[in-house]
Amino acid sequence: MNKLGEKIKEIRLKEGLSQEAFAKELGYNSRSTINKIEKGINEISYDKLMLLIQKYEIELDELFDKNKKKSFAPLDDDSILYVSFSARSAGNCTDIVQYLLRPKDKLILFKDIFYNPCSKCNYECFKSICKYRYDDIYDLLDSANNYKKVVFIVPMYCGNPSSLYFMISERMQDYFSNNENKWDFFLEKLHFICIYGSDEETPYFIETFKSIIKDETKILKIERHKYNLKMSERVLDREEVISLLEQYKSRIVNV
Ligand SMILES: Cc1cc2nc3c(=O)[nH]c(=O)nc-3n(C[C@H](O)[C@H](O)[C@H](O)COP(=O)(O)O)c2cc1C
Repeated sequence: MNKLGEKIKEIRLKEGLSQEAFAKELGYNSRSTINKIEKGINEISYDKLMLLIQKYEIELDELFDKNKKKSFAPLDDDSILYVSFSARSAGNCTDIVQYLLRPKDKLILFKDIFYNPCSKCNYECFKSICKYRYDDIYDLLDSANNYKKVVFIVPMYCGNPSSLYFMISERMQDYFSNNENKWDFFLEKLHFICIYGSDEETPYFIETFKSIIKDETKILKIERHKYNLKMSERVLDREEVISLLEQYKSRIVNV
């Protein structure tokens, strides 16, 4: 199988289509043409490739850079997986993880993985088929249970957890419905670090996470207002935040 054929197959599976249905969607007369394209025996024509890109809203990067697929495997039995739901590569969420990160730990920026939102589906998981099982979210969740701990870093955007967090939260519903035996195990490992204004201003923000893990000691709260930090300021510039992170290291990271 060549890489483009492999990618086309991934797109078809992600859309939950048989080779026959996919052939029809792209205007081919027979299933075997798709089979040959997926196996790299035939090349896809320029017109059909453009049709596929438009129809399934595919990014060119995604189509041609197969190596973009991330490895989520832990480096050690003792590794911690950090997943940041920030929209920035070098904002406060990354700064905080960099402060905590040991060489054996891993940081994944959710924004950079290949993911699909539930909003583009049509309730297909109600028929027990998630059409997005072939994106990185599934691989990420599959690997998560091989880590000692999983820490989600969630910033507040417009009074709520960032939309990227909701993206994984929705998809986790399908993943854990189909991997029920993994939920308790995952939950035990799961921790949150949250960056937001204050409990006083938005008490419901932390409730979102508390309702999942029930144990508040597994949530590190970084309330900017406590330290007179503006939205755009660096939280690591405050001694009090550094001291919180030092406590976190001894309580969670190095245990
Ligand atoms: C679109 C947007 C909306 C935001 N809304 C809020 C908000 O309602 N309340 C708040 O305390 N901070 C808000 N912030 C500030 C972020 O919580 C803050 O920038 C935090 O550092 C985000 O993490 P990051 O630095 O990794 O991006 C907002 C930031 C952005 C980009």
